Amino acid sequence: MKVLVATEKPFAAAAINGIREIVEKAGYELVLLEKYTDVAEFYAAVADVDALIVRSDKVTKEVIAHANNLKIVVRAGAGFDNLDLDACSERGIVAMNTPGQNSNAVAELALGMMVYMARNTFQKGTGSELKGKRLGIQAYGNVGRLVAKIAQGFGMEVAAFDPFVPTEAIEKDGVKPVLSLDELYSTCQYISLHIPANEQTKKSIGKALLGQMPKGGCLINTARKEVINEDELIEILSERTDLKYATDIAADKQEELNTLFGNRVFATPKKMGAETAEANINAGLAAASQIVDYLENGNERFRLNK
Ligand code: 3PG
Repeated sequence: MKVLVATEKPFAAAAINGIREIVEKAGYELVLLEKYTDVAEFYAAVADVDALIVRSDKVTKEVIAHANNLKIVVRAGAGFDNLDLDACSERGIVAMNTPGQNSNAVAELALGMMVYMARNTFQKGTGSELKGKRLGIQAYGNVGRLVAKIAQGFGMEVAAFDPFVPTEAIEKDGVKPVLSLDELYSTCQYISLHIPANEQTKKSIGKALLGQMPKGGCLINTARKEVINEDELIEILSERTDLKYATDIAADKQEELNTLFGNRVFATPKKMGAETAEANINAGLAAASQIVDYLENGNERFRLNK
């Protein structure tokens, strides 16, 4: 069996060592395609492999069409909007993610970005503290829960909106469950996004919600750029000169945002949420183990497609 790791943004070396150990212990062969610049390299590399590990690399219909022997693809990470699940299903290929494995890295970054924005991106002017401020978490999943816990350590009051999580599960963490997005946005100075990008969420965060934020409101996006309505973001930042936006995934209109709003907006130079050695190791090794467990034992836990 051949396992391909195809990563435009490579894993840390320690993660590759761990992946190799798991793959070779199973008697399989590891193939590496890192920092590829042309999708044709991906097409060629995937042609004869049985399993595939990716990060945010797009596993499109075309990639699947080139994968003659592929049985399983694992997205080493949480968000799977980069996988064409239907194309996988059509070919009987199992698709999985590794939920929770890189959550702490993303949660720490979300809080780091909050501090950075609260301190005027470390530029001149008096900043503010997070203590005593209210943070609204949009989607109380693996990352959202960790953000809540760390924020409580800062002395923030935390609220969360998640229609898929029972209110008791939110309450038991000392977090206030709110029943609508309007309530979340209108009562929280900080909002941290942890929703996936899908048909329901794309462009769902715009003027109607952001316009309700209290004075000095700041939106932190470590989720996906696609969930933001960028035209409306520009509109509301122009109208409300107190609002701020920080993102881990540069907006399509990031240059315009930077020009118009200076240090009221911030984007990391590249997506950094899962860029820690720990997250690489956790997600990469989980992906390799899930592959071996599926191919050897048929374990389909974490399967995403039907
Ligand atoms: C995720 O969905 O797990 C994160 O966005 C990490 O993505 P990355 O592996 O491309 O850094």
